Amino acid sequence: MFKVALIVGSVRRDRNGIKVAKWMEQKLKERGHEVFFIDPMELNLPLLDRMYKEMDNPPENLKKLRQMIVDADGYLPITPEYNHSTSSAMKNTLDYFLEEYFFKPSAIVSYSVGGFGGVNAAAHLRQILSEMGTPAISSTYPISKVQTVFDDNGRLLDEKHDKRVKRFLDEFEWYMEAMKKQREKGTPY
Ligand SMILES: Cc1cc2nc3c(=O)[nH]c(=O)nc-3n(C[C@H](O)[C@H](O)[C@H](O)COP(=O)(O)O)c2cc1C
Repeated sequence: MFKVALIVGSVRRDRNGIKVAKWMEQKLKERGHEVFFIDPMELNLPLLDRMYKEMDNPPENLKKLRQMIVDADGYLPITPEYNHSTSSAMKNTLDYFLEEYFFKPSAIVSYSVGGFGGVNAAAHLRQILSEMGTPAISSTYPISKVQTVFDDNGRLLDEKHDKRVKRFLDEFEWYMEAMKKQREKGTPY
C-alpha cells in the first residue's frame, strides 16, 4: 500500500526501543505496507557536519538512506524520552535531510519506562517534524512502562496495544493517502 520509513530513536546497547520498532514494523507489514527500517545504530552516522545536499561525495549508507527518505510516503519515528525531549540519535538522523521530507506526513510513536510514555519527547518531536515539512498527524502513540509491554524477545505481552494501535495507523494511512493524492497534483514549492 504505502512506503513507510520507520526511524529508530535509540542507539543504547540495551535499548527498549528496538522492541517497539520491530513490533511496529510487523504491524505495518500486516497492513500491506513496505517498511524501510532505519536504525541509527547500524548507520553509525557521525554528529552532523554537512547535510546530505552539501556533500560532494556522500558515503554509500547515506545515499541509501536518502533514497528511503525520498521514496517514503510517510515517516514513523519511534522516539525514547531523554530529559523530556527526543534523543540526539533521532535528531541527528533527521537533520541530514530537509526537502526530502516535504509534503509527507509523519506519525509519532514515543515510549518510556515511566508512566507518561514519552509524551514530552513527542511534543518536541512534533515541532521538529513540522519545521522539516513533514507535519505529524494529530494522534501520537505513547507507550508507558515499555519494559513491561514486551518480553526479552520482543514479543508483545500487553495485548491491548494490538487493538489500540489500529486507530493510530488508520489515521496515519488516511493522511498518507490524502497527501499522496495532493502531491500527484503538484506541490506549492
Ligand atoms: C539520558 C536519559 C534520560 C532519560 N530521561 C527520561 C525522561 O525525561 N523521562 C522518562 O520518562 N524517562 C527518561 N529516561 C528513561 C527512559 O525512558 C528509558 O531509559 C528508556 O528505556 C529509553 O529508551 P531506550 O532504552 O530505547 O534508549 C531517560 C533515560 C536516559 C538514558
